[in-house]
Amino acid sequence: MDLSDIGNDIDHVLLTEEQIGARLDEMAAQIDADYAGKDLLLVGVLKGAVMVMADLSRRLHTAATMDWMAVSSYGSGTKSSGVVRILKDLDTDLTDRHVLIVEDIVDSGLTLSWLLSNLRSRGPASVEIAAAMRKPDAVKVDIDVRYVGFDIPNEFVVGYGLDYAEKYRNLPFVGTLAPHVYER
Ligand code: XMP
Ligand code: MG
Repeated sequence: MDLSDIGNDIDHVLLTEEQIGARLDEMAAQIDADYAGKDLLLVGVLKGAVMVMADLSRRLHTAATMDWMAVSSYGSGTKSSGVVRILKDLDTDLTDRHVLIVEDIVDSGLTLSWLLSNLRSRGPASVEIAAAMRKPDAVKVDIDVRYVGFDIPNEFVVGYGLDYAEKYRNLPFVGTLAPHVYER
């Protein structure tokens, strides 16, 4: 498969690479201001948050360390199961750390709500969330997301780390999938 094949699978682009970059500049400035003088630990949620972690962390002027967790709340399809499993835990002790969870997207909020209470039980100084996207119409759990890139419509999206059956993560933009992709 070449890149033009991937392009044909996209119905419309929601966020361009330029829009994402400009918003990340603003988010990084806010995070720098809020964590000045603090020892910041960025916790990325694999695999979707890889792009936003790379792009956001490089914009920070705050010294930060990075760790990763893998959880599973979705199968290969598009519906939330509500069941969260840890596939890979952190290597870092969170005691007295300022933790910023870096996520791709807040959909129902079930994954992050679970992750928040899990990380908060480990004795950190603080835990906040930065998410590239949020779907306000879909939120089922009330969670405070301190830094939000974009509020997007309640549609299934791919690209910029987000997948459909593990594909499309490497698209530099965020778009919706053409119906023929679900149908085949
Ligand atoms: P919840 O519903 O728990 O979902 O907030 C969080 C995780 O579900 C995935 N997710 C998506 N993945 N396109 C995707 O490719 C989407 O539109 C979408 N919505 C949710 C994602 O992994 C997120 O972290
Ligand atoms: Mg995710």
